[in-house]
Amino acid sequence: MEKYPIVAGNWKMHKTTTEGKSFVEETINMLLDIEKVTIIFGPPFTALFDLDVKTPFFLGAQNCHWESHGAFTGEISTDMLVDCGVHYVIIGHSERRHVFHESDDWINRKVHAVLNAGMTPILCIGEKLEDRESDNTQSVLSSQLIEGLKGIDSLENIVLAYEPVWAIGTGITASVGQVNDTHNVIRQELKVVFSDSESETVPILYGGSVNPGNATELISVDGVDGFLIGGASLTSEPFTEIARQVEQHMKEKS
Ligand code: 13P
Repeated sequence: MEKYPIVAGNWKMHKTTTEGKSFVEETINMLLDIEKVTIIFGPPFTALFDLDVKTPFFLGAQNCHWESHGAFTGEISTDMLVDCGVHYVIIGHSERRHVFHESDDWINRKVHAVLNAGMTPILCIGEKLEDRESDNTQSVLSSQLIEGLKGIDSLENIVLAYEPVWAIGTGITASVGQVNDTHNVIRQELKVVFSDSESETVPILYGGSVNPGNATELISVDGVDGFLIGGASLTSEPFTEIARQVEQHMKEKS
């Protein structure tokens, strides 16, 4: 099956169930003619329950626990997500890592749990500003990849998202050159563990202040297979405009 670029919205802690439902309806209606883009809505858990979407639209969750059930107050299992029709789960988002102090070990357990449940993890990696300024980007990303993917044999059902922490919600986008270089670095690091062909083809999304003003140039960067979008995924206009630019890019390429 041909893999299309992904435009994924991470709503973070925004929208009630009612708001989410009307937003999704409106957005789908604006994108009925989309053919070559996979579009993922990433609402909070509460809004997932009441959403029902069909290809090329999918539901993504923002987190999960690795155990199937038990005394884990406040957590959500992969079975519960599957039951809500979820296909993708964002794992290791920088806010989970740096605000909620999730460790690479937890992130790795979650990646396994999502795969075992038949869903696709979107594993997020990204360096902080101080890492980039001290020339440690490569080693940070390498360790997040190696630890996060420990025990995984194949990249076939994995999506990666490169989200430099300094570009998230700041309005500062990584430059085309930085995105190009870093996606190449990620693919080289993957080759240490995985086959060349999987390392070359695993989808790597870019995230960090993506908006309609920079989407076309960023999707044109070699090695960028779509976007993970925060702020611009919360209203239909920018989100659908970004999806259209990605679709247009695909049409021009083929
Ligand atoms: P922004 O698009 O708001 O920078 O957020 C990016 C992000 O964190 C997506 O997961």
